[in-house]
Amino acid sequence: MANLKVAVFASGNGSNFQALADAAREGRLGAEIRLLVCDRPDAAVVKRAEAAGIPTYVFRPRDYPSREAYEREILAELERLGIGLVVLAGYMRILTRVLVDAYAGRMINIHPSLLPAFPGMNAVRQALDYGVKVTGVTVHFVDSGVDSGPIIAQEALAVDERDTEETLAERIHRIEHRLLPEVVRRIADGRVRLDGRRVFVE
Ligand code: GRF
Repeated sequence: MANLKVAVFASGNGSNFQALADAAREGRLGAEIRLLVCDRPDAAVVKRAEAAGIPTYVFRPRDYPSREAYEREILAELERLGIGLVVLAGYMRILTRVLVDAYAGRMINIHPSLLPAFPGMNAVRQALDYGVKVTGVTVHFVDSGVDSGPIIAQEALAVDERDTEETLAERIHRIEHRLLPEVVRRIADGRVRLDGRRVFVE
């Protein structure tokens, strides 16, 4: 699957999008990033995509009568481009079955904790508030729950007692920027197999 076509969904800063775009440019991704999908026209990630020469699909959810309505339009665009993998990288919306079902087994998400601990928003803050000594990063397939799909890869890191949300998030980001392109590369190479809820990675 050397010519796997990828769409990245992101809502904010887009440092993970950047890591993927850099890996693709340097020939480390084994896949092509064909589209950025973004629900916030003023997000920094849109500028990053423009700078990288990657087409954007930017929309405002409030312009649509329902989540399903905009997802149907996005799905049509993904299908038109022949997108084989969707990567959620800081996309701050819960997906409906329109996209989840259409891309079952072909959609992944990156989350800044060791799932199933601390799903949902502000995972780094949640981990600090709880006082865990180890946290990390998870990349998983997307199902219809929140951060609940089959896990592909995880990496742990120690929490320092002096960590603030900022210092911890920075170390987590460093891991994310390496791990996410690595997982995409494995999927592109056909080295990730999903069997029910179990994932096998070569
Ligand atoms: C990352 O921490 C990712 O794990 C989470 O949202 C954050 C996005 O950061 N899902 P960025 O926009 O890629 O910088």
